[in-house]
Amino acid sequence: MKILVTGGAGYIGSHTVVELQQKGYDVVIIDNLSNSTKEVIYSIEKISGKLPEFHQFDLCDENLIGKFFSNNNDIDGIIHFAAFKAVGESVEQPLKYYHNNLTSLINLLKYMNEVQIKNLVFSSSCTVYGQPDMLPVKEDAPFKKAFSPYGHTKQICEQIIECASSVHNIKAILLRYFNPIGAHDSSLIGELPLGIPNNLLPFITQTAIGKRDYLKVFGNDYDTPDGTCIRDYIHVVDIAKAHVVALERLQNNKTNSSCEVFNLGTGKGFSVLEVIKSFEKVTGVKLNYKFVDRRHGDIEKVWADTTFANKVLGWKAEKGLDEMTLSAWNWEKKLKK
Ligand code: UD1
Repeated sequence: MKILVTGGAGYIGSHTVVELQQKGYDVVIIDNLSNSTKEVIYSIEKISGKLPEFHQFDLCDENLIGKFFSNNNDIDGIIHFAAFKAVGESVEQPLKYYHNNLTSLINLLKYMNEVQIKNLVFSSSCTVYGQPDMLPVKEDAPFKKAFSPYGHTKQICEQIIECASSVHNIKAILLRYFNPIGAHDSSLIGELPLGIPNNLLPFITQTAIGKRDYLKVFGNDYDTPDGTCIRDYIHVVDIAKAHVVALERLQNNKTNSSCEVFNLGTGKGFSVLEVIKSFEKVTGVKLNYKFVDRRHGDIEKVWADTTFANKVLGWKAEKGLDEMTLSAWNWEKKLKK
């Protein structure tokens, strides 16, 4: 079986490529390296012992996709990660986000239909829920107005896939990730933010290693037990494994509809302070942090109802918070070396 992984050099993409290879799949990666490097491909090879086939180009270029599919007529399924994901940047440059995230998906769906590739796993986000009315949040919770153009692109992409799969010979599984953190046990792949990180874990590890002076904790006056925001943090390797399970569900014709949706979380919420405490406990490093004002656009609390993913998809997150923070730290130390 040959699987195309778009964005396979990225954070979640690279971990998923490893899991696929370890299950015996051949993997072809398309990535424009806009937020990753070629080194990642070689790191994947070091872990799995197999160099994935790699094509560097932009999925917004319809001609290049056409050429790719005419030279590669043996693809059995696609996992589509390639997208821009920085929430703040999307507020400043919305058109860049709408253009990239929507055009690449539309191009891919068009060629899937033309060359008759049936199965698609799509990388979505809990951001589609906004601040849900009920917690834990279930897959059938309504979309709220998106907080950012990035979040809006995920909502629109989901709707495009749902619509295309209802009329074309395409079956899709949409995976809504909560907050993926951590790194591979080997510390050979992990999250590699360009510039100043926006997300919590890379900011924590970069502060602890001395690249940043202190972590700003955005708000301690939320309506939560310790006043800081609550998220459902999930180990990136658990997320990667869910993609393989989803793909196999599609390949084995186990789906109940042309487009299924699953939450990928642990079902447990942790506050920013709890994450910091876990990090300090497992690493023995004291973190320098200060409370500052709330960050615009942050929601107060969200965590997943994972019942549907556990029962129907047959997948469950296995790794706990301490494993997540420790693996993120090991990765940061490896980067320094
Ligand atoms: C956001 C998006 C998510 C997206 C992810 C990737 C929403 C609701 N979520 O997650 O869909 O996949 O970005 O970019 O839009 N924090 C600090 N200090 C920091 C950084 C973060 O206190 O320096 C806090 C935040 O206020 C938040 C928590 O840590 O409470 C997690 O933040 P972050 O890692 O940025 O993820 P989200 O904003 O939850």
